[in-house]
Amino acid sequence: MKGIILAGGTGSRLFPLTKVTNKHLLPVGREPMLLHPVRKLVEAGITRILIVTGTEHMGDVVGLLGSGREYGCEFTFKVQDEAGGIAQALALGENFAGGDGVCVLLGDNIFADGIGDDVAAFEAQGSGARVFLKQVPDPGRYGVARVEGDRVVEIIEKPEDPPSDLAVTGIYFYDAEVFDIIRGLKPSARGEYEITDVNNAYIERGTMSFGTMAGWWTDAGTFPSFHLANELVMALEVGDE
Ligand code: DAU
Repeated sequence: MKGIILAGGTGSRLFPLTKVTNKHLLPVGREPMLLHPVRKLVEAGITRILIVTGTEHMGDVVGLLGSGREYGCEFTFKVQDEAGGIAQALALGENFAGGDGVCVLLGDNIFADGIGDDVAAFEAQGSGARVFLKQVPDPGRYGVARVEGDRVVEIIEKPEDPPSDLAVTGIYFYDAEVFDIIRGLKPSARGEYEITDVNNAYIERGTMSFGTMAGWWTDAGTFPSFHLANELVMALEVGDE
């Protein structure tokens, strides 16, 4: 399995911190945000990793990460010309995936749990897709899952009236079909190719499984969540001392 970290986008919700740099280069704890998903993949044994980011700060991203030797992995880099959505960024990984399954992490997702067991669970599943849900107090700002029994039956992106408090986290497993699915997508009302549309396509095919996140999870894309991510990671780092 290969890893893909999506680190493009405009970072507009963190402006002006993102005026001259990429959101994923901002600090979370003692390291730039982007190193958190890198370490999660490497700890789970995924060492071939594609980084997708925009044109503006690709040089700095490469400068931070290098070849991957320092982190025990091998990086490939791809440019997303404009921020046309998470699914558009993922589409850039088709040649890199080369027919293998992929673990996709959103570069601003920070979480406590390891993903090694989930990699094994998806490998056992063999095909389709797998997402991870987390109970949150503010579901309306995420993709939200409607769950019936042991199945996710629908995911709604940023619903005004959320059907549950289960956010879909930015940790996804897909088989190689994902690239065909993305080719069939149309942009959403906000003009983006949505990862939620990809996930709903798998749900319609009946090949979507889900897990839940036991440990803490947050994105770091707004000022309150960026602050929270720093608090949570700093608490872990202090515990390590
Ligand atoms: O954090 C989980 C949430 O992430 C999910 O619950 C939502 O379903 C999903 O749409 C996404 O929502 P956000 O509105 O938080 O996504 P955002 O635009 O902040 O993008 C998240 C990451 O995806 C960002 O850190 C970098 C990457 N990205 C995003 C866009 C729009 C790209 O690489 N390229 C892009 O064009």
